[in-house]
Amino acid sequence: MRFFIDTADLDQIKEAHDLGVLDGVTTNPSLMAKAGITGAKNIEDHYKKIASIVEGDVSAEVIATDYAGIVAEGEYLADLAPNIVVKVPMIREGIKAISHFSGKGIKTNCTLVFSAGQAILAAKAGATYISPFVGRVDDINWDGIGLIEEIAELYAIQMYDTEILAASIRNARHIVQAAKAGADIATCPLHTILGLLKHPLTDIGLAKFLEDYNKGNA
Ligand code: G3P
Repeated sequence: MRFFIDTADLDQIKEAHDLGVLDGVTTNPSLMAKAGITGAKNIEDHYKKIASIVEGDVSAEVIATDYAGIVAEGEYLADLAPNIVVKVPMIREGIKAISHFSGKGIKTNCTLVFSAGQAILAAKAGATYISPFVGRVDDINWDGIGLIEEIAELYAIQMYDTEILAASIRNARHIVQAAKAGADIATCPLHTILGLLKHPLTDIGLAKFLEDYNKGNA
């Protein structure tokens, strides 16, 4: 499974990149606002900065919700850098636009996916990635990881090329479960990626190794 970081914070993107485990970046308008980036020109400049830090795909989300607007905005965003992927919401006009982008060889990430039916439609339209929101499904007491499992199973049966990008990942356990469920990628906040490092027995074991080593040097 590949790792994307789900943030617009440049320091966090650099930190994950420096760890050597980063395969790409996802953003959305809320994450841009959280990083203090507002206004079309600033957002555009910010995408260019992100795309220059990582070699992998960087999702840039359209704001338009009508077909012509999504196409115009998506084509503009795709031209900002070679690794930009156009992020399109799972709406009727979005599906139509994904089909258009697919025909032109422009990569897409269909976002706000909450059901297997939506996942089928996005795959049929030729989306490069779909983003099912695991945490938000859990928030309404449904089964976010179960959704990933169901999509992975039906994509395998139907041999769709669309990749499953598990999003709204809230903790390290979600990452492990998403990997087991068949997600191709997990996009996670930095603290969640770093959460994979943590185990109390690792800390206790290392402290003991260092203590024993230092006995010989006392
Ligand atoms: O990738 C989608 C993500 O940014 C949403 O996460 O935690 O707001 O549901 P969350």
